[in-house]
This record gives sequence, C-alpha cells and structure tokens, in this order.
Amino acid sequence: MKKNILIIPGDGIGQEVTTWGKEVLNTIAQKYNHEFTFDEAIMGHTAIEATGNPLPDETLEKAKASDAILFGAIGHAKYDNDPSAKVRPEQGLLKIRKELGLYANLRPILLFDELLDASSLKPEVLKGTDILFFRELTGDVYFGEKNRNEDNTFASDLMNYHRYEVERIARKAFEAARTRSKKLCSVDKANVLETSRLWREVVQELAKEYSDVETEHMFIDNAAMQLVKNPKKFDVVLTANLFGDILTDEASQIAGSMGMLASASVGDGTGFFEPIHGSAHDIAGQNKANPLASILSAALMLDIAFGLQEEAKEVTNAVAATLKAGWRTGDIANAETAADKILGTKEMGAKVLEFLK
Ligand code: IPM
Ligand code: MN
Repeated sequence: MKKNILIIPGDGIGQEVTTWGKEVLNTIAQKYNHEFTFDEAIMGHTAIEATGNPLPDETLEKAKASDAILFGAIGHAKYDNDPSAKVRPEQGLLKIRKELGLYANLRPILLFDELLDASSLKPEVLKGTDILFFRELTGDVYFGEKNRNEDNTFASDLMNYHRYEVERIARKAFEAARTRSKKLCSVDKANVLETSRLWREVVQELAKEYSDVETEHMFIDNAAMQLVKNPKKFDVVLTANLFGDILTDEASQIAGSMGMLASASVGDGTGFFEPIHGSAHDIAGQNKANPLASILSAALMLDIAFGLQEEAKEVTNAVAATLKAGWRTGDIANAETAADKILGTKEMGAKVLEFLK
C-alpha cells in the first residue's frame, strides 16, 4: 500500500513524541512491504515564531494533499498567562480541524492491565474498562462567536449546534456501538442548555433507527462522577466538543496517564491522528515525555485511515509487550517501579521498535 503521511510535530514535546510515531510507521512499512512517504510541516507556537501564523497556508495545503496526518502537540506557557494575546498557537489546531472537516474525534480509553497500578484509582474499579469516546470536534462553544466589550467588563462565547452537526457525529457513534457491545451513552446538559436539548432530541430520534443499540442519556456532571465511580459501565460515549474535552482528560487517568491516550479525528477529508496530551513545556527537550500516545496514534492511523487492522494490532501488541516487560516512562511508573526500568522518550520508543521487529 502506498501512502503519503504528513508529520506535524507542533510544539513542546510534540517533536520528541512524533519521532517515535513515525519510526513505528516506518517499521510497519518495512515489515509489511508498504510504501509510506513522509513530509513535515509546522503549526502552533513553532509556526507563529517562524511565520507569524499558527497555521501557515503551506501547512494546510500539505495537510489537504496527504493521506493522513500525525500530529504532536500544541501550545506554549507564554500564551497561557497572557489572555490578551490575539494570535495563539491553539488557533492553528482549531483551524485545521475546521478546514479538514474533522468533526468526529475518537478517543479510545485503552487500558493495559500492566498499568492498573499506575492510576490513582483502585485496580478493581478499573479492570475491564474499555470506553470509546466520540467527541464532536468542529462545533460548540469552541467555534461560536466571541465577544468582549470595550471596557473589558463583559465577555461571551456563543455555544451553538446545528442539527446536522449532531446527527453526523451521533451516527458515527451508533455505528461504532453496533460493532462493540451495542451500548451508547450520550452526555449533555439538557436540563439547562438549549443546545443540549437539541442534541438529546437528535440522539433520541437516531436511537429509534438503531434500536439494536441500548441508548442512555446522562448529564455531564453526573457522567464526570460516574466515570471515576464505575468506569466499566460505559462503552461508547457520545458528547459535545467542550464536554468531551474535559471528560477525556478525566478518563485518561483510567488508563494511567495522559501520556497513554491516542486519538483519531475524522470526517470529510484527511484523517488527523494525535495524542490527547498537550505540549508539556515543563519537560520538553528533556527526553522525559511518554512516546506511547504518539505510537498508539500511529496505530489508529493504520487502522482507521488505511484499514490496516493487522498492522495496527501489531503496534498495540508491541506496546503491551513493552509494558509487560516492565518498561515505564516516568508518568506511568509507580513507587515500586525499579529505577532502571524507568526510561526516557528515546529509550522507550526504541523498546517498542524492538518488540515490533
Ligand atoms: C485537545 C486540546 C485542544 C482542545 C486545545 C489544545 C485547543 O485540549 O485536543 O483536547 O481543547 O480541543
Ligand atoms: Mn483537551
């Protein structure tokens, strides 16, 4: 199979981790006789520094022309403490999601048994958890009109949804539920928000069409609580952009660390694959970041963008084998982990490659 992959490392630890996602794709290509070619582009703070634009036209053109994109992370502390900055790294990510029509963000909470003790939650609460989040990605308060009055005493962000936006992501979630345990939980705040009432109405209508799927509706506050109380009760979770952003960071603690979770953003065009973690400038350039989320994002690319299920499974198995052999990065180590089992980014990436070969 011939594929043209665009690597966008982005900011902070993005560069370090995408190196290993790419290495894994290369290894798979060699092993299975695929022809993957790679190009690279800039986005975020890195792109602002170079061009003044968080998403340069050249990056967008390359993205549209590629078969899949492996992205690292975005953001810089400098902007977090400067709310007045008009040009911000995150704008690059939001714009590329919109431009590529990536309305569905799939975030699997993949729990490796070896990491049951890396979480702050009890192993017996976690064991057996397998959740697939469908986070809507191109609507909601993220993209609504923003306002600030002149004397800076008022600001607003418009939360809004069109029926078609809810329907197309809900359909993807229902289809996925059919291939899993036929359970779907739609999360909203329909007791308060009009957008959530529209959301619930659309999901209820679709539920009739997918009557073989057991559909449940839950308020976001309750879902946040249930997720740590009894994560096993969830299978496919469907939710809006902002709720999904928050809920999936919470859910990452089920898998032990943000450094473990991969995501796939899909929709109308080229698929976009990225860890759910941020740019982590505090550890950037120190060989400390966990490369597994990027490696697992590469696995999602093989599976979802290229339909290479066997190859994707190989990658996940190599990650499992690495963890089984006891290797850990700092974020997933615990008090009992021997110091000589704690690896840097490069060493961890290299271990996965060893198991893959
Ligand atoms: C994510 C991130 C982004 C989001 C930020 C960086 C804009 O937190 O992908 O979850 O909020 O969507
Ligand atoms: Mn987030």
